[in-house]
Amino acid sequence: MSLSFVLDPPLTDALRADIVALWTDVTNAGGAVGFVAPVTRDQVRPVAEAALAGVAAGPDRLLVGVDDGRVVAVLFLADNRFPLKAHWRVLKRVMVDPASQGRGYGGALMREAAAVATRLGLAGLQVTVRDGHGLDRFYRGLGFREVGRVPGALRIGPGDDRDELFMWLDLPQPQEAASTAGSAAASATSADG
Ligand SMILES: CC(C)(COP(=O)(O)OP(=O)(O)OC[C@H]1O[C@@H](n2cnc3c(N)ncnc32)[C@H](O)[C@@H]1OP(=O)(O)O)[C@@H](O)C(=O)NCCC(=O)NCCS
Repeated sequence: MSLSFVLDPPLTDALRADIVALWTDVTNAGGAVGFVAPVTRDQVRPVAEAALAGVAAGPDRLLVGVDDGRVVAVLFLADNRFPLKAHWRVLKRVMVDPASQGRGYGGALMREAAAVATRLGLAGLQVTVRDGHGLDRFYRGLGFREVGRVPGALRIGPGDDRDELFMWLDLPQPQEAASTAGSAAASATSADG
């Protein structure tokens, strides 16, 4: 894997176009990122631009995964815009280019987001998941747990209502992070031996 991550890259026209293209392709491959397939880039663009406006003006953050110069993974760390919820973020539009899925990129993207959030001193991360895609398994594998469910909240089409799942990840708090780093350093040392 030659994936690398950039937090809050410059929002150039080229990057904006790459994100719209990725979001469209992911949706049309069956992804659950705010739309139901089929969609066109023109339909995705205003929604993507609204999400990017929240990054350009703050307080949201954008994490991009790049492989061989290509944008292959994206997520937004969305601020709750509410002082009583300032200690956690919602991860939105978690997506990997269909051609690059199943190679560990999604997991790596999520671990990077958790590392960013830990550095920001946050207490937790939440994702909102469309039921029926098996996505809860992806998030459970990364330590998230289901903390809520709204039955039939999402009307995908006539006769196709899906539950909306709320999943949560507790982030290590400063003391825990320090002790985890300490034991990681210790095990790296012993692995060397
Ligand atoms: C969900 C997504 C980001 C995962 O990315 P990925 O690069 O394919 O995932 P990884 O290769 O890192 O897989 C990590 C693990 O999650 C599992 N997994 C990945 N996608 C899954 C899915 N849709 N359903 C069930 N399990 C899944 C993998 O099997 C793997 O399990 P393993 O560690 O036991 O082998 C990607 O499939 C995607 O972009 N989907 C479309 C967009 C979408 O629906 N996003 C979710 C918004 S809530």
